[in-house]
Amino acid sequence: MDELTAWLADPDPVTFPYAQVLAGFHRTGKHFVADRTLQWLAMARDAVPGTSTAADRLVRWLDVLLDKWDGRYDYRSYLALRLLAIPTAGSTTPYLEQRDRLVAGLLGDVLGFEHDAADGRTEFLPQMRPGADIVAKRHRLGLKVAVPALARLGGGPVTTGLELRATMRRLLTDDEIQSIALSILPVYVSHDEYLFIRVLQIFETTFAMLVLELRAGVAALDAGAWTAAADRVTVAAQVLTESAPTFSLLATMQVESFRTFRRFTEGASAIQSRNYRLLESLCRLPDDERLSSAAFDNTPEVRDEVLAGLRTLEQAYTEAVGRNPPPDAEPAVAAFRTFAAAVRRWRQTHYRLAVRMIGDRTGTGYTEGTPYLSEVRKIPVFLRPDLDVPPVS
Ligand code: HEM
Repeated sequence: MDELTAWLADPDPVTFPYAQVLAGFHRTGKHFVADRTLQWLAMARDAVPGTSTAADRLVRWLDVLLDKWDGRYDYRSYLALRLLAIPTAGSTTPYLEQRDRLVAGLLGDVLGFEHDAADGRTEFLPQMRPGADIVAKRHRLGLKVAVPALARLGGGPVTTGLELRATMRRLLTDDEIQSIALSILPVYVSHDEYLFIRVLQIFETTFAMLVLELRAGVAALDAGAWTAAADRVTVAAQVLTESAPTFSLLATMQVESFRTFRRFTEGASAIQSRNYRLLESLCRLPDDERLSSAAFDNTPEVRDEVLAGLRTLEQAYTEAVGRNPPPDAEPAVAAFRTFAAAVRRWRQTHYRLAVRMIGDRTGTGYTEGTPYLSEVRKIPVFLRPDLDVPPVS
């Protein structure tokens, strides 16, 4: 860690040896980084001067590197979510465009990695490289998710993962490219963990965008803007449906590989996803049993928001119909039902994938595992039968 000691002598956030530190983490995986290195990094974090953008980014990154050391390791830090340009209401860029930029960027990155590894051009994550047939399947499925996003971004047609990576490197800012590069911090050295992290980040990005659309849908209903409300929920349904092949992409993960690196991800589970929990809670209020279950124990901020009176689509719809019935509520109802169907399909696919990957093992979020998922997939998306659809079998 010579670079780190040299940097500590003159700690300027702009000159931090990002590449060298990242390479060190990649050599062993985050779980196996030497205590001595972590001590140096903790000292570096204390030494970061000022409150500039560069200082802020460096501290956020060091927090991610030091999550296990600090005893704060969880799903959000595993995925380095605070480094990524996750869709936010505070940006002037439309929600869908924010999502598309990051999703296509992440896909270009992971397909680029698959390509480099298959060609022997990287030694990163050398264990359990997949065969050529699996790599080809990953490219096909990854492109299937990326192409509609890229088309909306005006990125032109791409037919290979390498073209996608090159196109995204042109479309994204240096800042966005750097954030994506810094956000891949596997716990071990299995090839497939790269794919696992990127797929989780892609879904997390999508959930964040869906939450923004659903909130906007609630506001539109409250304003009596029926067409706008239907449009918001329709976009949410479309994007969730379009994201479905991301699960097929993850299903190419080699089970043995997953079970190997999963031993070191204990404590990080998507049950801690705030955006997924918000998505669920924005449709309709969770009942008391759900609100006091592991789901909300793992997302206490969302429980607080629900208890503070989070307004749901179902409430807004019911009140809007009662107050000011539109000449035709059918487009809104159809949008709700399409969204409910997409959520139910998402849960079913997730459940089936989990059965295949972990069988009867417990979850890294400390639930009993697939029995938990089997139960929660049946939770109604909406309580009103006219808005919901039957469970997927
Ligand atoms: C190998 C693939 C996967 C397996 C084996 C798996 C397994 C599990 C398990 C066992 C749980 C229950 C909580 C726990 O104890 O950890 C869970 C919850 C969850 N997972 Fe996954 N998962 C996988 C992929 C994904 C992906 C790609 C996402 C997308 C973000 C995701 C999102 C979720 C969410 C949102 C929950 C909470 C569900 C709820 O509380 O209703 N999972 N997963």
